[in-house]
Amino acid sequence: MKVGFLQFAPKLFHEKHNLEKIETLLQGCKADLVVLPELATSGYLFTNQKEMKPLSSPAKSGRIADFFRNIAVKENCAIVVGFLEKEKDNFLSSQMLVYPNGTIEVYRKTHLFSDEKRFYKPGDTGFNVFEFRGVKLGLMICFDWIFPEAARTLALKGAEIICHSANLVLPFCQKAMITRSVENQVFTITANRNGTEQNAGQELTFTGMSQITSPKGEILAQATEDEEILKVIEINPEEARDKFVTETNHVLDDRRTEFYEI
Ligand code: ACM
Repeated sequence: MKVGFLQFAPKLFHEKHNLEKIETLLQGCKADLVVLPELATSGYLFTNQKEMKPLSSPAKSGRIADFFRNIAVKENCAIVVGFLEKEKDNFLSSQMLVYPNGTIEVYRKTHLFSDEKRFYKPGDTGFNVFEFRGVKLGLMICFDWIFPEAARTLALKGAEIICHSANLVLPFCQKAMITRSVENQVFTITANRNGTEQNAGQELTFTGMSQITSPKGEILAQATEDEEILKVIEINPEEARDKFVTETNHVLDDRRTEFYEI
């Protein structure tokens, strides 16, 4: 399976620019699956909900869904992308998985980071796994990484590739995702953004370094801190079906859940 990430620097409030950039970078991608960053169409650093409204959209219909549906069909590629979802009066940081047949599945970010708690509703979808071309894909967004339960739940549900859309500002995640890979024996694709955003006297710099990790903890592909790039590599998802780290140690079946505090 050919899988990849697209790392770029979305411009806050500039949806048209962001969509054009995504379309250009995905053109002729020759991948089965590409993962894009969190909030890839809108930018990140909002300071109130009034700013968010014009950039938000419903999950399965409307201009953002139509845009990615068109690309997924044209490129014959599944796309996982973070976007600003509006559902009734609520905003959610969500991810859509867009299949090449135009079907869309949605994950809503469970663990909100920092000021996101002021503007977004916490996600209510839980962690779900979706099949594509015989491979099980798990979805999670950015700060979900710091809760090992997120990746673990996806692995217990059978995920072989964790598709992780991110807007990372702390320096720990890329290293942590190597551990998420090993402890669950899964591939992970972290699609982070790069660049700096400023709004109303605030500033955030995002860490780039998007990466694909293997169940053995290898970094199979990685972007630099600041490049805008599509990287696609070939992996064998079957490697994520073997959960033994030695002949006698199975990372899921050997858990001693009776000793764990939940
Ligand atoms: C994050 O969850 N955007 C850090």
